[in-house]
Amino acid sequence: MKPGIFYGTSTGTTEKVAKLIAQAVGVADTDVYDVAKTSPSTVGDYDLIILGAPTYGSGDVQDDMADFLDGVRVLDLKGKKAAVFGCGDESMSSTFCSGVEEIYKALKDTGATMVGEYNTFPYRFESSAAVPVQGGEAVGLLVDDVNEPDKTETRVKDWVKTLI
Ligand SMILES: Cc1cc2nc3c(=O)[nH]c(=O)nc-3n(C[C@H](O)[C@H](O)[C@H](O)COP(=O)(O)O)c2cc1C
Repeated sequence: MKPGIFYGTSTGTTEKVAKLIAQAVGVADTDVYDVAKTSPSTVGDYDLIILGAPTYGSGDVQDDMADFLDGVRVLDLKGKKAAVFGCGDESMSSTFCSGVEEIYKALKDTGATMVGEYNTFPYRFESSAAVPVQGGEAVGLLVDDVNEPDKTETRVKDWVKTLI
């Protein structure tokens, strides 16, 4: 299983989380990509594709990731595993990490086998497009490094155990 990690970021938080995931999975920095500088077809080099980005606007995935997903959607990723993560701010309570849903849907549509659904307890937000059933599991790892930075590393480590 060869994992590759792809992130979008505007202010650096998701890059930090991507590197924590890399450490926890045990992959080198050369397998961690900023999507703003990467061709979407690069995801095809990996068996476990991990994609993450923050949410901006009113629940939208970050711009660089939105562009990257346009290139991912046309790929055939059947036979590969994929997992998603994202950063947000629980005080934006009705759209917490909602952009992660866009990443999940794009990867799922490629035929990849989605893994890494994650329990959102004990987060405190009203709703998120990344949590299909209210109070249930999120489609991936949701990180609030704005309000709960002390929990980020533990969340990453717990989540990674579900991937490999
Ligand atoms: C204008 C603006 C809009 C935002 N909208 C949301 C939102 O709808 N949902 C959410 O969970 N976080 C939202 N955030 C918070 C960011 O996603 C959060 O700060 C994130 O950690 C930034 O990640 P980055 O440093 O990788 O860019 C917003 C932040 C800003 C500045």
